[in-house]
Amino acid sequence: MKGHILLLGIAVFALGVVSALENGLARKPPMGWMTWQRFRCITDCNKYPDECISEALIKRMADLMVSEGYLDAGYDYVNIDDCWSMMERDADGVLWPNPERFPNGMKHLADYVHSKGLKFGIYQDIGTNTCAGYPGMRDFYEIDAKTFAEWEVDFIKVDGCYADAVKMVEDYVLLGEIMNKTGRPILYSCSWPAYQEEEDIIPDYETLKKTCNMWRNWDDIEDSHSSVERITKYFSDNQYRIQPHSGPGHWNDPDTLILGNYGLSYEQSKSQLAVWTVLAAPLLLSNDLATVTPEIKELLLNREIIAVDQDPMGIQGRYVQTIRNIEIWKRPILPKVKEVYTHAIAFVSRRADGAPYAIEVNLVEDLGLRINSSIKGYKVYDLFQTDRKPVFVRANGTFETRVNPTGANFYRFVPVVRNTRYGKHGSSAGNSV
Ligand code: GLA
Repeated sequence: MKGHILLLGIAVFALGVVSALENGLARKPPMGWMTWQRFRCITDCNKYPDECISEALIKRMADLMVSEGYLDAGYDYVNIDDCWSMMERDADGVLWPNPERFPNGMKHLADYVHSKGLKFGIYQDIGTNTCAGYPGMRDFYEIDAKTFAEWEVDFIKVDGCYADAVKMVEDYVLLGEIMNKTGRPILYSCSWPAYQEEEDIIPDYETLKKTCNMWRNWDDIEDSHSSVERITKYFSDNQYRIQPHSGPGHWNDPDTLILGNYGLSYEQSKSQLAVWTVLAAPLLLSNDLATVTPEIKELLLNREIIAVDQDPMGIQGRYVQTIRNIEIWKRPILPKVKEVYTHAIAFVSRRADGAPYAIEVNLVEDLGLRINSSIKGYKVYDLFQTDRKPVFVRANGTFETRVNPTGANFYRFVPVVRNTRYGKHGSSAGNSV
């Protein structure tokens, strides 16, 4: 009898382990690099030797991740998107990489990436085919999960092309369970919300949170400011149902950062970075790291902005309001001082009328910042000009900012404790003025 109870206990425990997302990954929004936005499905290595989806490209980018300081700043995943595999599975149903482009196989490539201190990610699809027409996972979940675990994959983006948008949820859940059973913790990036939203189906976020570490909510990003604006608008229009579901272990994903490519000006690059950071988005670069200009690289490696994105509370921020065509976005972060959070606040310009545009905002009414009897105001740090001294703004005071056309300004507002007659009682963060 005792033995039976023990067995039952083990079975229930095992079931619990495999039926929920217990991989312990993505406690902070994942950071790294991936192929899709910049390199798409370029497969002709004769014509485009530096751009085709290949072992050489991944090795080159992995090297640059280290030598250019991206790994040190926290970008640690190197992920291959679509177009890596052969067009057919082998007789046993196993999927192999294209041998011309990946001559030493994926395990070799994963080993190379790992030897640099980076993690290795790959792409598949829950349906019969990937979006670019390569073989999908349908009917091969066990085999592919085993293959990926053997290759020592750390991240898998599972797309949702060639699958039924309603039924795919069951399949994603099943695949998650199968992957958990391999014993290898693999970050699970899902795409089912994006496909459901396309068909006006509201995704079941509770299941999503239990199943996936991150998920694409909506449309693909393209290399333009208008694409960034469209995605930004989707996130503000739908924030009441999307924002609460993001948090440590499970993140909303507005798609890759396109900084360093062709489509964004410097100002627009600041805009995407600021909004994505407020959204607690995964920071996945998709550019050619060899050609990123120094000024864009400086944005991508801005430690203070990265620290906001990676804030341990993991609370996704929200759109607050628009004042004269400047959007205000706000995210609570640490430190918390006398029950009042620090906030990262972005002023995102939708203006194109030439000169930098100044707005003056009231801390409480316009920004919705909290004040209490212990807080006398805020110290405001410029996140794009980190060498500037912070300015102090009184609780009932106003803050002025001038935003360049189509750009963004981004600040950290840190509460300042009121002095008492016994002297300064600053917070441990040293924010007493
Ligand atoms: C879909 C995804 C993209 C990319 C492509 C690859 O469109 O949303 O992010 O993975 O497929 O074909």
